[in-house]
Amino acid sequence: MITDDHKHIKILVIDDEPVVLDVVCQALEMAGFDVLSATGGKMGMEIFRKEQPVLVLTDINMPEMTGFDILKIIKHESPTTQVLVFSGKGTTGDVIEALRLGACNYLYKPLAIEFLLLTVNRCLERYELIQERMNRSAMLEKQVTERTAALTRTFHSTVKSLGRLIEMRDPYTFGHQHRVAFLAVAIGKELSMAQQELEIIQVAGLLHDIGKAAVPAELLVKPSQLTTQEFELIKCHPQAGYDVLKDIPFTESLGKDVAIIVLQHHERNDGTGYPQGLKDDEIEHESKILSVADIFEAISSHRPYRPAFDIESAKKELMNKRDKYYAPECIDACMRVIEQNQNDLSRLFEPVTRTLANHIHNPIYK
Ligand SMILES: [Fe+2]
Ligand SMILES: [Fe+2]
Repeated sequence: MITDDHKHIKILVIDDEPVVLDVVCQALEMAGFDVLSATGGKMGMEIFRKEQPVLVLTDINMPEMTGFDILKIIKHESPTTQVLVFSGKGTTGDVIEALRLGACNYLYKPLAIEFLLLTVNRCLERYELIQERMNRSAMLEKQVTERTAALTRTFHSTVKSLGRLIEMRDPYTFGHQHRVAFLAVAIGKELSMAQQELEIIQVAGLLHDIGKAAVPAELLVKPSQLTTQEFELIKCHPQAGYDVLKDIPFTESLGKDVAIIVLQHHERNDGTGYPQGLKDDEIEHESKILSVADIFEAISSHRPYRPAFDIESAKKELMNKRDKYYAPECIDACMRVIEQNQNDLSRLFEPVTRTLANHIHNPIYK
């Protein structure tokens, strides 16, 4: 049965036999459809492209374009449009070919009007089902995209909050992790690293000193040089950071374990770093970048026992240790980043206040 829902739907009929065309069009119009007609393939395709009917009825045997030609073009240009083909001389092979090309059905002439309307009805129901399925898929895709974006926002906010948590305990280095993350990402970009790798560096940078939560607060704020024994306690912070982060499935979301990068951020190329005394290739590339950003941020900050290094002195300090402690390519990339921002180094860093860090002792870096 043709329902009210099916009425006023555009249907295009193509047939080079005027009598058949008139009969079919009249029957469809009487059933309430918005009917368009064409006496040949070229005219039919023009109307199709202009009017975008949901269903096309076409004869197979026509002089300028066959029904198969029309079917192929329509299915290529608009896969969801339904095409119902009919013919007076069709063979079983024609039926199979038409269905293979995507026709919704195949009718033989002469057309019985009641059967034609029933078949049209079935074709339109099929069209609606396809539309519904596509709408549902689009809606699900949209929901997945929105949920993923929300989860990503939550993830980044959580990372920042975790970083801030440790800085609340150690306000003297307020903003240090943000600045290190920002510079490390700038170095990563200079090294042409991929977006996902930059994201890993950013997250590791924002959390790299989280293990300081395990260091006695009085050591973090001690206004004088640390003793060797006190410094040994400070040296536990990469391992403590690893222990805090190791169960977070960073590898699933970022493709790499941030905990390992944090663990190795004080390792040095010559094996004199801590906690494991790793050398060269034993150290993660991201950790090498992080260590360069970390040391530059530290030595360009004021200490009560020394003023902040000016940029030239900071660069010289880094270059002195270029081959011994650090990955030379990371130092070189850092130098280029500094050069490019020579006149406005604040552009390197996010707008986080350095007021506290500029004036209060942070004894971690010797
Ligand atoms: Fe550290
Ligand atoms: Fe640090």
